[in-house]
Amino acid sequence: MPSNSAPNTTSDSTSDKRKILVTSALPYANGSIHIGHLVEYIQTDIWVRFQKMRGHSCHYVCADDTHGTPIMLRAEQEGITPEALIERVHGEHFQDFSDFAIEFDNYHSTHSEENRELSQDLYRRLDKAGLIAKRTIEQLYDPEKEMFLSDRFIKGGCPKCKAEEQYGDSCEVCGATYAPTDLIKPYSALSGATPVTKESEHHFFKLGECEAFLKEWLNREGNAAPLQLEAANKMAEWFDAGLRDWDISRDAPYFGFEIPDAPGKFLYVWLDAPIGYIASFKNLCDREGLDFDSYWQPGSDAELYHFIGKDILYFHALFWPATLQYAGYRTPTRICVHGFLTVDGQKMSKSRGTFIMARTYLEHLNPEYLRYYFAAKLSDRVEDIDLNLEDFTARVNSNLVGKYINIASRSAGFISKRFDGQLAATFDDDGATLVSAIQAQAAQIATLYEARQFSEAMREIMALADQANEYVSDKAPWVMAKQEGAEAQLHCVCTAIINAFRVLTIYLKPVLPKLAAEVETFLNVAPLQWSDVDGLLTDHAINPYKHLMKRIEQKQIDAMLEASAATLVQPKPSPARHGEAQQKKSKPEKSETTIPENGAGSSMNDETDNTIQFDDFAKVDLRIARIVKADHVDGADKLLQLTLDIGEAKTRNVFAGIKSAYSPEQLEGKLTVMVANLAPRKMRFGISEGMVLAAGPGGKALWLLEPHEGAQPGMKVK
Ligand code: 2FM
Ligand code: ZN
Repeated sequence: MPSNSAPNTTSDSTSDKRKILVTSALPYANGSIHIGHLVEYIQTDIWVRFQKMRGHSCHYVCADDTHGTPIMLRAEQEGITPEALIERVHGEHFQDFSDFAIEFDNYHSTHSEENRELSQDLYRRLDKAGLIAKRTIEQLYDPEKEMFLSDRFIKGGCPKCKAEEQYGDSCEVCGATYAPTDLIKPYSALSGATPVTKESEHHFFKLGECEAFLKEWLNREGNAAPLQLEAANKMAEWFDAGLRDWDISRDAPYFGFEIPDAPGKFLYVWLDAPIGYIASFKNLCDREGLDFDSYWQPGSDAELYHFIGKDILYFHALFWPATLQYAGYRTPTRICVHGFLTVDGQKMSKSRGTFIMARTYLEHLNPEYLRYYFAAKLSDRVEDIDLNLEDFTARVNSNLVGKYINIASRSAGFISKRFDGQLAATFDDDGATLVSAIQAQAAQIATLYEARQFSEAMREIMALADQANEYVSDKAPWVMAKQEGAEAQLHCVCTAIINAFRVLTIYLKPVLPKLAAEVETFLNVAPLQWSDVDGLLTDHAINPYKHLMKRIEQKQIDAMLEASAATLVQPKPSPARHGEAQQKKSKPEKSETTIPENGAGSSMNDETDNTIQFDDFAKVDLRIARIVKADHVDGADKLLQLTLDIGEAKTRNVFAGIKSAYSPEQLEGKLTVMVANLAPRKMRFGISEGMVLAAGPGGKALWLLEPHEGAQPGMKVK
């Protein structure tokens, strides 16, 4: 069984310079980045920054995952081309990542020339190796849309429990799994038409023939072990269940790359997506003159790491190494698998405001708080991590601000005011002991970073910060500053404190790169590398200290939750990073046609699958409401409290996120439309008993719906 040990990395010798290529999973190009996604990108970025600080050659590449039916349909819905959609989303994703200090060496797209050439070439190589089979299969077809339907685009009654409106592969009510043809009264979720069965020739990758290789790869030991224990166990289960052929073709219309010499047939998105890792790197090589082949040919001395979520293990641990191996490429060194994110112990939830988009977070909080918190929770295990918002505030405030930043802020002022910004030539004895004790942990902390045991690394670093704070309290420079003749001692003590702070900054730099850059300016030093741990900063002029990080205030968290909850058009959960929907994706249940399209069982399909039946609409109790009263809400930036008359004995209380567009006076006496049967929602300010309807993107551009004259409170809107 493979072990979890990490490569030997404690050496600092430059002759040990490693060649490392790292990827994170490619996000789909039809959804926004949320904090669930960020677990992976932050984890990877920390690891990459650490490797770069160690002096290794390390490249981090990623791209948008742009192909497949959902993206094609979404573009159609928006009335734009898929190319225009993916270009827009690429810009948004890149900005979100940059603002979280995720520093890719290249952020490319799977809809690129490099990827087209590499994907079609890989297909040809697999074909030449005898690993492509062609078979005619039967599939449901939408005669109106004139396209084949994957299971998630077919709905109908569950054959087992009879629940209506279930997807073609499984029932969300009773959990049964079945074929779409088993559904009671199946219909196309795209057009409502009754699907017909139609034959089509599909291309399959013969995964079963790769079993011996995959077992050998999986069982590589020690540093060569490609998977964590939990993931390796999962693989063993899949081997036991038997490896079946993988359907890698889709019929037109499809947004993707055509299969060579097979007009009207396209490569399935999950075939070309991971090739996007290679394509992104190729694009970087062409730009920077790197030697592409030396990374990708068999026997390459470069290390290749893929960071992924547990939901896409099947694709990365079976299909990916197998296709690489038989197409004549090297295989991954390691697949680093992480779990999902929960918030306050539960799946992220729109109604609780915990479905937090990257952009919403950035509007309220410093991204490095989240980088630190995730680091403090992440290990090398495949387990889920929880963002507990109380704990988040407490840890950031007490560890980052209270312990680490405090070290600098308690001593820097003396250096600038009393010593003209100049550090002393030496430390006092205790100071020298402190600084060496902190330096002595460098190898241990490096080993933890290397092994992705970030939470342990943060624990060690904070224990060292505690030691530094004890030293500060013992020496009490503020007392020395008032003592006659203690000037020289004060100088040495403050210099030791600044040096302790400097070494801690090196340790935290992979996690807090922006803060570290500010510390470098304050210390007046070049960008810190890991090997700088051993140096000392003496007889050196530093810059005046500016406060480096603020504490989190509860009102910032509240405002972020409110903004997330108040978003009128809410994003659907993305499939890749959290929630039960993803579990479905972890393993294709059936042999041939059922591997989900862009993470089926996911938001992506749901977002495009926006046709509802009349019965769905009729479930929403829309009523005319008179706004009897409108008030500001103490402590809420975005909400107004509305008292609504909907013709019932009692008025309704509704908190609406419309403060940016209306003052209470503008609203009182007006009629509007409310959703009267929305489940009541407990908010910090009270219970909200419904929702009023408004249009517009938000901010000032928001307009409440108002009926024509004559409508009366309580009238049903239908
Ligand atoms: O699950 C997802 O979000 C996919 N877009 C990940 C693709 S990773 C790689 F294979 F491209
Ligand atoms: Zn059922």
